[in-house]
Amino acid sequence: MSVAVFPESIEVESFAADLRSGLRTDGQRTLPSKYLYDEVGSALFEVICVLPEYGLTRADTRLLIRHAPSWVSQLPSKTCVAELGSGSSKKTRLILEALAQRQETTFFPIDISRAALAQCARELGDIPNLSVSGLHMEYLPGLHEAKARRQKKGPLLVLFLGSTIGNFARDAGERFLRSVREQLSPGDFMLLSSDLVKSEAELVLAYDDVAGVTAAFDKNVLARINRELDADFDLARFAHEARWNREARRVEMHLVARTDMTVHIRRAQLTVELAAGESIKTEDSYKFETGEIRDVAQRCGFRCAEQWIDSEWAFAQSLLVAE
Ligand code: AVJ
Repeated sequence: MSVAVFPESIEVESFAADLRSGLRTDGQRTLPSKYLYDEVGSALFEVICVLPEYGLTRADTRLLIRHAPSWVSQLPSKTCVAELGSGSSKKTRLILEALAQRQETTFFPIDISRAALAQCARELGDIPNLSVSGLHMEYLPGLHEAKARRQKKGPLLVLFLGSTIGNFARDAGERFLRSVREQLSPGDFMLLSSDLVKSEAELVLAYDDVAGVTAAFDKNVLARINRELDADFDLARFAHEARWNREARRVEMHLVARTDMTVHIRRAQLTVELAAGESIKTEDSYKFETGEIRDVAQRCGFRCAEQWIDSEWAFAQSLLVAE
């Protein structure tokens, strides 16, 4: 028996609503990937970033180490920095140190996780001449706020690292870039990281590592539903799978039911019947062609000033300028 708790918080209500629509029976069942990042999920993601199979974070870091000193030194004075989905901001240090060496610098990390913002302030607190002003907001409202608070005379540099853009469907990603551009002024910058198409074997391993960390990261979303919505998912009865969808050029994470089962998600007033072999898709991670980024950027009102490709792991960083 379940007892209603009033008032339900907004977060529980919208989580429940997302589950009710995502777990419907018509077609592929899905969960929005943002729910992977509770405290446990965020900690597991930090581990994923150091796995030998997951080349993205190291490629991103290498490109910054190699190229940031030069392009950062050419940025106009009074440049402010904002980062979308900053997470722990470890990579961002490479840019901020170079900027803060020249001038007093303000950094606006934008993240929906308070824990991430706190970690970011700790991580970067020792850089002289840097003030960190965390914005606990969604990306676009956060950017609006950063824009309002930045030094009026200098441009804004927006960082979107880690290939997080890959979580958007292609058309939604393009709409998102256009919305970012609408918040910016000509001469503002955006550094955009994107993971590139590579062999299926490499891609599948990157999302299904031998130590099982990504599997734990994936299954944790069910544990989270159990904890927060009083559900009874039996995690042992799910298998993690990474699938390369060649037509859509994306890696998909799935949780596949090993047996028939009935799951009760009490705080969402939802009962889900799963058949053996049926899956719940928990993430899309779109991969890009190099030219594609330049074309999309152009259509959204940016000029691609420079683009760097990592030589070990096919991965691109593009420095875009708002036109
Ligand atoms: C943080 C969205 C860029 O898609 O590669 C890592 C998340 N999922 N392993 C990605 C993720 C499984 C990651 N992003």
